Amino acid sequence: MPSDKHPNQPLRVGVAGLGVVGGEVARQLSHRGVDIAAVAGRPFTITAVSARSRNTDRGFDMTGIAWVENAADIASRDDVDIVVEMIGGEEGVALDLVRDALASGKHVVTANKALLAHHGTELATLAEANNVGLMFEAAVAGGIPAVKALREGLAANRISRVSGILNGTCNYILTRMERTGEAFADVLADAQKLGYAEAEPSLDVDGIDAAHKLTILAAIAFGQTPQFDHVAISGIRDVSAVDFAYAAQLGFRIKLVGVAEPGRMPRMQTCLLPISTQLAKVDGVLNAVAFEGDPVGTTVLTGPGAGAGATSSAVLSDLVDIAAGRIPCTFGRPVAALRNGSKVVNGGGPDTPFYVRLMVVDKPGVLADVTSVLQTHAISVESLLQQGRAPQDVVALVMTTHEVSVDHLMKALDELESLSCVQAPPVAMPIVVADQEG
Ligand SMILES: NC(=O)c1ccc[n+]([C@@H]2O[C@H](COP(=O)([O-])OP(=O)(O)OC[C@H]3O[C@@H](n4cnc5c(N)ncnc54)[C@H](OP(=O)(O)O)[C@@H]3O)[C@@H](O)[C@H]2O)c1
Repeated sequence: MPSDKHPNQPLRVGVAGLGVVGGEVARQLSHRGVDIAAVAGRPFTITAVSARSRNTDRGFDMTGIAWVENAADIASRDDVDIVVEMIGGEEGVALDLVRDALASGKHVVTANKALLAHHGTELATLAEANNVGLMFEAAVAGGIPAVKALREGLAANRISRVSGILNGTCNYILTRMERTGEAFADVLADAQKLGYAEAEPSLDVDGIDAAHKLTILAAIAFGQTPQFDHVAISGIRDVSAVDFAYAAQLGFRIKLVGVAEPGRMPRMQTCLLPISTQLAKVDGVLNAVAFEGDPVGTTVLTGPGAGAGATSSAVLSDLVDIAAGRIPCTFGRPVAALRNGSKVVNGGGPDTPFYVRLMVVDKPGVLADVTSVLQTHAISVESLLQQGRAPQDVVALVMTTHEVSVDHLMKALDELESLSCVQAPPVAMPIVVADQEG
């Protein structure tokens, strides 16, 4: 391995991408090199960098560092031992660079969850074949050492569930909608102005970014290949501000939560969490991950999921591990020992309690009509809330159900929507008991 060739020499790092994360990694290596070398056991030196714009001031001294016009060329440079890929994107130059670097026998550190969720098996195979590390602590939950916690700290556990709040942008939007009663579109627009959301927000608000992270965690937790196309994904666009108040009255908060369990399709969904659970208390841009396993029980980690400081911290920890020779199998075990992630799913989501909101005309007999439909589909109601008394006006009829299959619920919702008293498409969200109460 490169790190073993010259153990007393600095490890030579090529940084591709000098934006929010890559720029901070380079600044930290430049400004805090002595501290980092002390824990790593040897120094790092940046020998090559690449970005789109050569003239931007990146906040560190680039004297003596090679500027590489085509980032993918860093892979074949003789003066680079470790490639730090901080460009992003599941295809294109990031994929070319990582593939070529691993094939050339160079370690790779990346924060690129999209790349790993889509090409993880191929890249892990390449890393293994070339006896190098493919490290990605920064790809999941930024500053929370979630990957190491699961892959190393909890290695001997039988994991029964991984759940998490894995996208700070969505959590910020939901937290603010809950606090202020503002509509999704207004909060999103403001989040974009504040820099919490991208101009093109769909990767975040449609749950895709969080699903990339869930794919990676499921692979490590259950010893399977990452299989992004086997994740059921729904984002936060359809959440209505009124649902936060009803959820609160029923003892819940609304969050975008990823849940992965062995043998089941992982789900990234907007759902209700009991207020007393630890994940429900995670607000704003914070992330949290809950691991449930035997013998550990439940472990919940909370922290900053994004931003220059949090993410560079994770990247630097991977560099330290490489220098110290702590290079694990990419997904916790050799690729040949991973089960095929597309074949281990033998069921959709489990039967789950649901929150349902109907907008109905407030007139006698409505409740009887609604409960009759629910009975037909064997759905039993746990609690019921009817807001306001305004005869002939449209009011909210909110209920929580006992466990029900999604299929049954969907059929019931279709039928409910066709009732003359129901004035808008029903809203339904699963209720997830994501971790032990805390
Ligand atoms: N930002 C976060 O908080 C965060 C958290 C976790 C993970 N990540 C992941 O970290 C990675 C980087 O994210 P970021 O937020 O740092 O992105 P960013 O700020 O947009 O930076 C991207 C960098 O890549 C460079 N770049 C773009 N296309 C390039 C190309 N074709 N060739 C060479 N360089 C190119 C850009 O150059 P210019 O600077 O010249 O434009 C920029 O320096 C992504 O995979 C992202 O998902 C980010």
